[in-house]
Amino acid sequence: MSRNATIEIDGKKYEFPIIEGTENELAIDIKTLRSITGGVTTIDPGFKNTGSCESAITFLDGEKGILRYRGYSIEELAEKAEFLEVAYLLIFGELPTAEELTKFHNDIKDQAHVDEDVKKILDGFPKTAHPMGVLSSLTSALVAFNPDSVNVDSEEEMYNAIVRILGKFPVLAAWTYRKHAGLPLDYGDNSLGYVDNFFKMMFKKPAADYESNEIVVSALNKLLILHADHEQNCSTSTVRIVGSSNAGLFVSISAGINALWGPLHGGANQAVIEMLEAIKGDGGDTKKYMAKAKDKEDSFRLMGFGHRVYKNFDPRAKIIKVAADEVLNELGIEDPILDIAKGLEKEALEDPYFVDRKLYPNVDFYSGIIYRALGIPTDMFTPMFALGRLPGWISQWREMRLGKEPIGRPRQIYIGETHRNFIPLKKR
Ligand code: ACO
Repeated sequence: MSRNATIEIDGKKYEFPIIEGTENELAIDIKTLRSITGGVTTIDPGFKNTGSCESAITFLDGEKGILRYRGYSIEELAEKAEFLEVAYLLIFGELPTAEELTKFHNDIKDQAHVDEDVKKILDGFPKTAHPMGVLSSLTSALVAFNPDSVNVDSEEEMYNAIVRILGKFPVLAAWTYRKHAGLPLDYGDNSLGYVDNFFKMMFKKPAADYESNEIVVSALNKLLILHADHEQNCSTSTVRIVGSSNAGLFVSISAGINALWGPLHGGANQAVIEMLEAIKGDGGDTKKYMAKAKDKEDSFRLMGFGHRVYKNFDPRAKIIKVAADEVLNELGIEDPILDIAKGLEKEALEDPYFVDRKLYPNVDFYSGIIYRALGIPTDMFTPMFALGRLPGWISQWREMRLGKEPIGRPRQIYIGETHRNFIPLKKR
């Protein structure tokens, strides 16, 4: 039975169909609103109530704390899958067979290099540049070395562009760090797995062998999977909207990296550790910082807390909290900021300010503690998030292009001056 919603404006009624997703989410389809009402629009700052697309990639239920990629629960994927399997699943819709996965990995390895001239671009950046700025610039620069635009109607061209970015991006991310750390640029070792190879590219010392560490690889694998997609968040919406102008995959991803950088989004993982460090340096007085977070006159927010969609708990945070304990135990690391984080969480979950506003730890509250234990420096945390989110951005870009979505172009309600006459400079 089809359902409709009625909007009444100045006594006149307009009917709009209600569409229903496979998980019974309802949406009023207002595509015809402006044309049938003679120009009435909707306003929804921050798109809190607006669906920008129909998507078959990721389902999340913020009230129940459910997150699924292509129908598979995040808990099961984080436990049982490898990052590249999840990347394949997100992008192509199904888990790969062993043969498909091997081919996918081989095709990615085949692209795991960049033009030598990329080194010159990297050289132009000051060593102190933030890795996210460098990474987005280098990703954008890939276009200059691969200028042919992708014919999205060709499955082969689409596939080639996808394996190209999955091959080259880890090189760029690792090199961004090596430049920052003053280490010589180097390639990894294609006989290693995708995650292990990335770690080697980051950390191999010039005159020492690299030894794979299973605990590190497994923790990183889990973190990357947990970050791999999150439907229409700020950076993914950016990727889709940039791509909707028919801009290519690399520049759309580069735009996504910039959107991710902000502390209200992916940059929160760095901000959380800096906040925990500051609290530790201030004598570990969590109560003081809780008070600051609640004080409306103070701009301080409890970083890693709150989420636009999750209003009960963030399932990724639950998995990461357990993983943080495990990884620190397995690596024999005692990190006092883990205790500060747990203390803050406990206090917040009992505090009416946080309870009333449904503010819970998000994915980034504990991720930085794991990154730190793995030896990843704080300003590389957000690039790590970008590496994890890459398959999500690719899959969302691909879905948008294959779906031939119209260019993203929101409306506004103008609230500025009405028409006025120009006043010559001398008379102002
Ligand atoms: N600390 C203190 N108060 C908070 C926090 C916080 N971390 N988050 C939200 N609030 C308060 C707001 O001040 C607001 O209070 P009010 O109703 O009295 O005005 C209320 O909770 C609702 O907050 P909004 O900002 O309206 O919620 P929104 O959905 O727009 O923002 C966001 C979500 C950006 C994640 C926010 O919770 C925040 O800033 N958190 C800290 C940054 C962070 O951890 N970001 C990472 C998000 S996960 C990710 O992107 C991977």
